Amino acid sequence: MAEEAIRIESVTKRFGDFVAVDDVDISIAQGEFFSLLGPSGCGKTTTLRMLAGFEVPTEGRILLEGDPVENVPPHRRNVNMVFQSYALFEHLDVENNIAFGLKRKKVAKDEIKSRVTEALELVDLSAKSGARPNELSGGQRQRVALARALVNRPRVLLLDEPLGALDLKLRRQMQIELKEIQREVGITFVYVTHDQEEALSMSDRIAVMSDGRVAQCGPPEEIYEHPTEEFVAGFIGISNLLQGRVESGNRVRIGDDCLEVPDLGDGHGEGETVQIAVRPEKVAVDEVGGEPYRVEPDMFTVEGEIESKVYLGVGNQLTLKLGDGSRLVALEQATYRMKADEQWEVGQRVTIGWHPEHCMILS
Ligand SMILES: Nc1ncnc2c1ncn2[C@@H]1O[C@H](COP(=O)(O)OP(=O)(O)OP(=O)(O)O)[C@@H](O)[C@H]1O
Ligand SMILES: [Mg+2]
Repeated sequence: MAEEAIRIESVTKRFGDFVAVDDVDISIAQGEFFSLLGPSGCGKTTTLRMLAGFEVPTEGRILLEGDPVENVPPHRRNVNMVFQSYALFEHLDVENNIAFGLKRKKVAKDEIKSRVTEALELVDLSAKSGARPNELSGGQRQRVALARALVNRPRVLLLDEPLGALDLKLRRQMQIELKEIQREVGITFVYVTHDQEEALSMSDRIAVMSDGRVAQCGPPEEIYEHPTEEFVAGFIGISNLLQGRVESGNRVRIGDDCLEVPDLGDGHGEGETVQIAVRPEKVAVDEVGGEPYRVEPDMFTVEGEIESKVYLGVGNQLTLKLGDGSRLVALEQATYRMKADEQWEVGQRVTIGWHPEHCMILS
């Protein structure tokens, strides 16, 4: 493992009686793209502000590159924060916005010039160096804010929903650009977002936060494919939740049917009720009595009927009603295999199937 850039050790932050951050432990490696993901109010910004030194932990401690920083003020920490509201100086042009911090630190003129030029190139804004912020697009303003932080050459960059103000298309484009810049400069990014897709596509690892605590921390695939609790399964994408009862071995009863899961996880005793989550895109649907087309022989299958369907362009989202009244959502991606006139009818009887290994057992 690479050297540790940041360690958050048993950190709790209280505002009066209110616990904003609750006994959080996180270790972030040098050069890692690390995201804090969670709903509004879960403590993301507070965590970031403690790293920056704008807030002091009530309990626990923070180490930057191995050194405790409780007595190090924000400007002495080798970290920079990019805020959601870019807070550019409207009366200064792009170049001077970026140079501002270096000038205040009394860095030599030539050095400022070369570092600003380099930062402008990095964010691809060389052509706009003389423009005022109000002459820039949202994405360009965002890049100025980023350059302004990068020009200080921090060891760690803290980004608080930096793309929050951008429309979806620009946001997706900036995600790719940000990730490229991070690779190029190789500094540690701690990235705050409440957008699960953004976190999945950009991060080396993600900490999913809920009510001030870290619900789960791991690489995107692990968070998505093996959520450990209902909150994580539901927050990262849609999940179907089914109740099951553990029988002998790895067998779980769902309604009248029994399903053998490859990995039940530890500590589930016989007779115990467990929650099983299945991702909508893992659910296959075929017409009852028709040729099997999507449902495969080694799938676990149940019967049901189509309760509703929503056309999504890239496919259909089907809500399926099972015999016991429970519901499942299936996301059926359109593929080159499908016939153009293929249609589902509400009320149609269907066979519903998924591979047992796509069952996620939650604690
Ligand atoms: N200075 C403060 N005084 C009192 N409560 C605060 C203070 N700062 C934050 N809080 C509370 O702590 C909780 C976490 O706030 P925080 O800003 O960290 O949330 P967040 O995860 O960044 O949310 P968002 O996605 O909405 O930005 C919130 O309930 C908030 O009201
Ligand atoms: Mg916030």
